[in-house]
Amino acid sequence: MKHLLSINDLSKVDAISILDTAQELARVSDGPMKKLPTLRGRTIVNLFAEDSTRTRISFEAAAKRLSADVINFSSKGSSISKGESLKDTAQTLQAMGADAVIIRHSASGAAQRLADSKWMSGSVINAGDGTHEHPSQALLDAFTIRKHLSKGADDLTGLRVAIVGDVLHSRVARSNVLLLSKLGAQVVLVAPPTLLPVGVESWPCQISYDLDEVIANVDAIMMLRIQLERMSEMYFPNAREYSRYFGLNSDRIRAMKAGAIVMHPGPMNRGLEITADAADGARSVIVEQVANGVSIRMAILYLLLAGNQEFAETGVSS
Ligand code: NCD
Repeated sequence: MKHLLSINDLSKVDAISILDTAQELARVSDGPMKKLPTLRGRTIVNLFAEDSTRTRISFEAAAKRLSADVINFSSKGSSISKGESLKDTAQTLQAMGADAVIIRHSASGAAQRLADSKWMSGSVINAGDGTHEHPSQALLDAFTIRKHLSKGADDLTGLRVAIVGDVLHSRVARSNVLLLSKLGAQVVLVAPPTLLPVGVESWPCQISYDLDEVIANVDAIMMLRIQLERMSEMYFPNAREYSRYFGLNSDRIRAMKAGAIVMHPGPMNRGLEITADAADGARSVIVEQVANGVSIRMAILYLLLAGNQEFAETGVSS
């Protein structure tokens, strides 16, 4: 595999191999030798044309732990998705000798366009394109769920996951529905009808408009940020109303199954989709998701750039 643009690029076996590699790499990172020499001499460009905290710094940390050289290129306001300027950007990256480009962009399909261009020969990793996909986030979420709930199984068969809130604007939701269902989990989307995209009926998941009906039956609940910056009109009456029907609070936390976990990709709107006590409570794995993000992104870079044959050389078994 050369690029990671969509969860659809991965078979179930590929996805499990990324999770297993991340688990192995997390074990190495916990040891005294944090850094592996695997990607020494390789250049990785972080091309972020949209705001990001967790994704950008965790890709940077991941690349550095594999000894790659990292160039941060934040081209806010540039238009990579528009013909000539895409060519210019790609040629610049090629001139820098980029072995991989990690791209975040507000246009859905931007990563695909960069990968399809003939002007750049490196790997392209989609770090979030518009409202389309965010595959590394879904992989770190699956990793987190597997770690807590799979009881040693390598996939997520038998687990139920609710994804709640602004599905309409969420690339995290789409990538997670595709990946979690591929790994055998049952996924239910919970949202008001106004925050569900057209065509959602064909996604491999169930749909509910009632959080209280769903909450007691899930093993993991993933709260989505209300993406105010992508909203040009009103999608719900007001914030209080939204929180009352679709927010996670301590009453709903109490209704959850024993052992069920609370997730959020961040950044959170505390007090809107999730209360502070739900975000910081005993069921929350939100901070751990960030740490797992580094291991998953190391695994992605490792598998795309080093390939399987180098597993043996660096002492990391597959
Ligand atoms: C998400 C994103 O940017 O798509 N955040 C992230 O990558 N951690 C979700 C969001 O912005 O709400």
